[in-house]
Amino acid sequence: MQNSPTKFTEITLARPDDWHLHLRDGAALAAVLADTAKRFARAIVMPNLKPPVTTVALADAYRKRIIAALPTDTQFNPLMTLYLTEATAPNEIDAAVASDFVHAVKYYPAGATTNSAAGVNDLTNCTATLARMEKLGLPLLVHGEVTDSAVDIFDREAVFIDRVLQPLRRDFPALKLVLEHITTKQGIDFVMAQDHHVAGTLTAHHLLLNRNALFVSGIRPHNYCLPVLKRETHRQALLAAATSGNPKFFLGTDSAPHAKSTKEAACGCAGCYTANAGIELYAQAFDSVGALHKLEGFASFYGADFYGLPRNTDKITLLRDSWGVPAELPYLADDTLVPFMAGESIAWRLQN
Ligand code: NCD
Ligand code: ZN
Repeated sequence: MQNSPTKFTEITLARPDDWHLHLRDGAALAAVLADTAKRFARAIVMPNLKPPVTTVALADAYRKRIIAALPTDTQFNPLMTLYLTEATAPNEIDAAVASDFVHAVKYYPAGATTNSAAGVNDLTNCTATLARMEKLGLPLLVHGEVTDSAVDIFDREAVFIDRVLQPLRRDFPALKLVLEHITTKQGIDFVMAQDHHVAGTLTAHHLLLNRNALFVSGIRPHNYCLPVLKRETHRQALLAAATSGNPKFFLGTDSAPHAKSTKEAACGCAGCYTANAGIELYAQAFDSVGALHKLEGFASFYGADFYGLPRNTDKITLLRDSWGVPAELPYLADDTLVPFMAGESIAWRLQN
């Protein structure tokens, strides 16, 4: 599997960005923000708060709360998104484009994932708004799963591509579109078959684990996220795409914190918290196939290029120096946060 002769002991790359991140709000925001800001220059911040961030005014207020929660002397630029509903008007798109802080609109099929109830049932009710986005070049970020309970949960991404994405591409061929957190070979093949308007993000946890990780001597709620982990053939396809150097694929952690008690429950929440090792986990995944030399493009260049933003010029260094992921992290006054790979070790460490 080694396709690079070099066994790196350290790697320096342009500071990466996270093109898909959940920061939450209030005490949760204050608890998690520093983990991302330490590693990434910018992040596309998901709008699935309660209530959702549906307008430019709400995005402006949320952005100010994020900046207020940053540790002093930290440079971090939150890139805001709007939550698409069937009531999102075309003039909200005008306002988003006129602002210098809204960079995309997020499409959640109603009921597909955490805080998606206010999302879209029928995308044909959004035609005028999508047309405005296409015209003005504002990207649509897609949670790509059908919500039809008759469809097997492991097939929901593939079925979404056929039922929703192919028609969307036909109707709005110049709409910039990101298939978020791709989990299947079908998702990879779809993105590769499209022109430059379409890209995809990949999480570290989907590059590292297959669905067996949900059931190791018992049920493993901290490996449960949506879209759910898939079988090994899909993980191999994701890893091949991430390390291919194809600029259509770039980093989006989908770090999604949930309090421990809400994960370890009869109906546990979906989401993995990865921000505390947000770049290190990708280094581990790329290293596993001898492709560390492909990490910088994926983590630091291709996303910025797709969004039409400048590439970062400062650098970070990762060292091959194993460290133990804590069992829990501080989160809320009365509850903790269990990070991804809690109690295990990660081979790469961020140099301070
Ligand atoms: C995310 C969350 O918790 O907000 N959960 C997840 O499993 N990824 C929502 C999402 O991105 O689907
Ligand atoms: Zn997400």
